[in-house]
Amino acid sequence: MTTLFDGYRLGDLRLPNRTVMAPMTRVRAAAGGLATASMATYYAQRASAGLIVSEGVQPSLIGQSNPGTPGLHTEEQVAAWRPVTAAVHANGGRIFAQLMHGGRVSHPATTGMQPVGPSAVPAVGEVFTPAGLRAAPAPRPLESAEVPEHARSYAEAARRAVDAGFDGVELHGANGYLISQFLSSNANLRTDRYGGSVTNRIRFAVEAAAATAEAVGAARTGIRLSPGGTFWGVEESDVPALYAELLGELTRLGLAYVHLEATADEEVLVGLRRAWPGTLVMNPVVPMGPKQTGRAEADHWLGLGAELISFGRAFMANPDLVERLRTGLPIAPVDETTYYQGGDAGYLTYPAYQHTA
Ligand SMILES: Cc1cc2nc3c(=O)[nH]c(=O)nc-3n(C[C@H](O)[C@H](O)[C@H](O)COP(=O)(O)O)c2cc1C
Repeated sequence: MTTLFDGYRLGDLRLPNRTVMAPMTRVRAAAGGLATASMATYYAQRASAGLIVSEGVQPSLIGQSNPGTPGLHTEEQVAAWRPVTAAVHANGGRIFAQLMHGGRVSHPATTGMQPVGPSAVPAVGEVFTPAGLRAAPAPRPLESAEVPEHARSYAEAARRAVDAGFDGVELHGANGYLISQFLSSNANLRTDRYGGSVTNRIRFAVEAAAATAEAVGAARTGIRLSPGGTFWGVEESDVPALYAELLGELTRLGLAYVHLEATADEEVLVGLRRAWPGTLVMNPVVPMGPKQTGRAEADHWLGLGAELISFGRAFMANPDLVERLRTGLPIAPVDETTYYQGGDAGYLTYPAYQHTA
C-alpha cells in the first residue's frame, strides 16, 4: 500500500515523499512585491516536503489581491526570488510558484487601479488594503478582447518563475480569485464566449492553463481548484458537469497535477478523482476550517486514490513536518495571530522538534 513516505515522480522531478506544502499567503514581501531573505529561510526550513507550493504570487500589478504579497511581473521580482529558490534547492527541496490573480478581490488603494473581473459584481466581504479592511469594490468587467491578455499573464509569470529558479507553477484556480470568478455562475454574468454555458465558464481557466503549459511545459504546470467553494461570495451551478468538463480539457493538456480542495462532498470529489487520470494533489480538509490536515486525513485520501497530499497549517508550524509524521512525533499548533503579520516572529521561529537527551 502507498504511504506518505514513498517517493513519487512528478513530471521530471523525483519527490522523496508524498507530502506537499500547501500555498499560504504570509504578506511579508518587501515594497515592490519583492521576495526577501526571510522568505528564503522560511521556505528552505521546509525543504524536506516532497514539493513546496509558494504563497500566492501576483502575475500582474492589477492581479495583486493583498498588500505585501510578492509578484512575478518585473525583472526585479525575478531577481529577488532567485535566492529563495536557490535556498530551497540547496536544502534538497523543490518549489512551485502559485500564480494568483485576485480579479475582483483587490482594491485601488492596494494597486492604484480599479480591479477587473468577469462582471461588475463585487466580492462579498472586505478586502485588505494598506489602510485596513475595506468593502470589496465593484470590478470593471473585462472587455471580450482583453480577457486573453489576462489568461496570458499567467504564462508570462510562469516564464519568469522558471527564470527565477522555480521548478514549476500552480495556477490558482480556487478560492474565489480570478479563474474561480470565471467558473462561477454569480460572479460571471457574461453573455460572450466566456460566460453562460459550462463550456464558456471554463474557457478562461483552460486558456490560462494552455498558455502556461505552452510557455513552460505541461510537466511544470499544475492548477488548484475548489469545486463548489463559496469564497468571497462565488457560487457555482452545475458543479459535477463544470468540473468534469474542465478536467477533461486539462487532461488533454496533460498538466502536471490538479490540486483539489475538499470543498465538495467526498462523493463528488471521488468522482472528480476518477475523471482526472493525472496526478491528484489532495488538500483533505475544508480550507480555513477548524480542523487542519493531519496524518489520518492524509492516509484516508491516499486510500481514495490521491497521489500526493498537501498540508497547510501543519507545515507552517512544523518545518520538520515530514520527520514528525514519519516518526509519530507531536504536531505543534499554529499561531493564527502571525498568519499575515509579525515579521520573522511566527514565520522563522517555529522550531524543529526538540529532542531531549
Ligand atoms: C495563512 C493562510 C494563508 C493561505 N493562503 C493561501 C494562498 O495563498 N493560496 C491558496 O491556494 N490557499 C491558501 N490557503 C489555504 C491553504 O493552502 C489550505 O488549503 C488550508 O490551510 C487548509 O489546509 P490545512 O488544513 O492543511 O491547513 C491559506 C491558508 C492559510 C492558513
